[in-house]
Amino acid sequence: MNTNEIEIDEQVFSMPRIGDKAPEFKAVTTQGEINFPSDYKGKWTILFSHPADFTPVCTSEFMMFAHLESKFKKANCNLIGLSIDGIYSHIAWLRTIKDKIKFKGMKNIEVKFPLIEDISMQVAKKYGMIQPGESKTQAVRAVFFIDPNGIVRAIIYYPLSLGRNFDEIFRALIAMQTSDKFNVATPADWNPGDDVIISPAGSCGVAEERMAGTDDLECEDWFFCTKKLDKDLVLKEVLKS
Ligand code: BEZ
Repeated sequence: MNTNEIEIDEQVFSMPRIGDKAPEFKAVTTQGEINFPSDYKGKWTILFSHPADFTPVCTSEFMMFAHLESKFKKANCNLIGLSIDGIYSHIAWLRTIKDKIKFKGMKNIEVKFPLIEDISMQVAKKYGMIQPGESKTQAVRAVFFIDPNGIVRAIIYYPLSLGRNFDEIFRALIAMQTSDKFNVATPADWNPGDDVIISPAGSCGVAEERMAGTDDLECEDWFFCTKKLDKDLVLKEVLKS
């Protein structure tokens, strides 16, 4: 077994970690077969799991993801959903959502991104989406952020009963893109337009320079320096593709 694999009841589950290559898979989805990550090269992907079709929290989340899909697309990010259900259940559920369900002012919501059928749990097991303490048969609410090079950049897990926060999912995506583009870090609760953090001084000389003051940096102390980063510039750079 690899270091990120665990064995439970004689089954092997792997838990991809931040910085790992995203595990490869081929899957049947509501939008046809996909090969991941090769079909998604050059784009960010949010791969997320939900416990089951025809359940209320999952339904609310799917409506939100579908409603926000164009916003994610503008940030060069595709969505892929997964649950341990079959393709006909997926199709029936998505049709029901479109035809019947209203939530937070949304109605007639059509889910156009792929929803993976994973009855065999082959993908869920590779991505640590089955967490047996929570459920042995349903995936937890996992969110994997995978970058254009197929590297896992962030992971969020929620339990079955807790619907996800979509502002945070979008904020995390834009913050990581901003870090990549401008070589900065983002502080607590950062949103575009807020000051960003520059990497801590790596030598006594740089620490001294920073404390002596430079035009564009604001230093609380030698290790804590921020700078302005224009909101329009961030949005132009990360939303341009
Ligand atoms: C739901 O999506 O509503 C749900 C699914 C599994 C357990 C609890 C809630």
